Amino acid sequence: MSLLRGLGLVLATGVAFAATPPSPVSIQADGRSPLPWRTLNAAEEERFHLGHAVFNTSWLPAGEGVGRRDGLGPQFNSHSCDSCHNSRRRGRGPLGDGPVSTDFVIQTGRRLADGRIERGHPRFGHIVNTQAIDGFSAEASIAIHYQPRPHRLADGSKLTLWAPEYRVETPDGQPLPDDLVLMPRIASQVLGAGLLEQIPERAILANARRRGPHRGTPAWIDSAGGRQLGRFGWQATEPSIASQTAVAFAREMGLSTELIGSIDCAAQDHACRNAAHDGEPEVAAELFEAVVAFQQLEALRRTPAAARQFDAATDGARLFARIGCADCHRDAMPLHDGRSIAPYTDLLLHDLGEALADRDVAGRPVPSRWRTPPLWGLSTALEGARTARLLHDGRARSIEEAIAWHGGSAADARDRYERLDTGQRQQLIDWVSSL
Ligand code: HEC
Ligand code: HEC
Repeated sequence: MSLLRGLGLVLATGVAFAATPPSPVSIQADGRSPLPWRTLNAAEEERFHLGHAVFNTSWLPAGEGVGRRDGLGPQFNSHSCDSCHNSRRRGRGPLGDGPVSTDFVIQTGRRLADGRIERGHPRFGHIVNTQAIDGFSAEASIAIHYQPRPHRLADGSKLTLWAPEYRVETPDGQPLPDDLVLMPRIASQVLGAGLLEQIPERAILANARRRGPHRGTPAWIDSAGGRQLGRFGWQATEPSIASQTAVAFAREMGLSTELIGSIDCAAQDHACRNAAHDGEPEVAAELFEAVVAFQQLEALRRTPAAARQFDAATDGARLFARIGCADCHRDAMPLHDGRSIAPYTDLLLHDLGEALADRDVAGRPVPSRWRTPPLWGLSTALEGARTARLLHDGRARSIEEAIAWHGGSAADARDRYERLDTGQRQQLIDWVSSL
């Protein structure tokens, strides 16, 4: 009887009971068959696969699609989630001087008369859209030029850092407004986001109350619906995977959803506002909810080689904690289900100094605080000889460069790293690259 009932469960839940209980971190060679971090029932499993398919779907302009995948644009940056977040990893980011790749985004801000910065700009909307469907033109083209900055560690060894400068050219050749703030961002990793959403708010707020030089600030977002804690994006501007996904559809792809009913057009761009659309919302509710559920349920993955390196590099882990990196990049956060994860983030905001701050078109820095990015998943960013592009704008080409850019409240941890001997620095880097 119990055997039969057990069998019934197996049938009803597909693979769910076939394997050992799912773990928050799956050890996998690649992400072609994503795994969930908790047991799914049959309906959830079906949704998970549908959501994966939506994540990979290339959207088409209104009227051109067969089925339910049209409504792209009129202006956009890329045509699928996967084209920016390849296999849910971070974007490749800018590889060097020249036109930027399509997975790199410039968000906009506006400097108000009282000095405060408002997100979005009437001339562009929230994002500078670099592509358009036939009959429309992109809002601008963007190119990067890197300035070398020599940097010296305590033992005299040298490192070159690369400071980015942006050239934004509009099709009409008009100068950019003086109050425009450029907020360059590489696509962050989506892997593990579902687990970050499962960290109880009180655990994040408890860390914000700890005393010490590395204490962070919660990213409160005031909205009509009340105050919410931001968790996603380089500055924790979005409270949930659903809101981040709706923002991506509206701003990066020009598709409306049940959460955001209009796309991100510039204030005066009537052609954009009146462009043909397909369906209200353009992304059917079932598809939107599936792609959100997929991200909420997918486990973080690590390659077998990275998992072995992680287990071996324990000296690096100890150094990371000793010099203060782990105060912000926290190695133990609880989940609602009682398990604990090691995401290496506190999900709090920190000021890392002026060198990393966003700038207006005249190059003046604006006050900028960054969410400690989760370091788990760095091994997938580096897998298969992918080049690392680290920090919010992808300027750092190695873990060591990323550390060297830490200023502001993280300057002391950076200095302690730079005073380690060569062997210890390598131990720390080996461990961080295995996360
Ligand atoms: C044009 C490139 C682009 C496209 C297309 C895109 N994204 Fe993103 N994504 C980004 C960038 C850039 C960020 C960082 C945003 C920020 O810092 O505010 C980001 C951040 C995210 C995050 C936050 C992860 C974290 O932990 O902070 C999630 C989740 C996400 N995107 C999901 C999606 C989904 C789902 C889609 C498709 C509906 C999508 N994105 C489409 C570029 C893109
Ligand atoms: C005060 C908090 C704080 C401390 C201490 C700190 N970091 Fe960070 N770290 C951050 C923030 C915030 C960012 C994101 C900055 C940005 O993108 O401009 C970051 C970014 C990074 C990145 C790039 C991650 C990515 O996704 O691109 C790495 C790698 C990193 N830190 C490693 C370290 C190491 C190693 C140490 C110790 C030497 C350290 N950090 C100490 C807050 C901190």
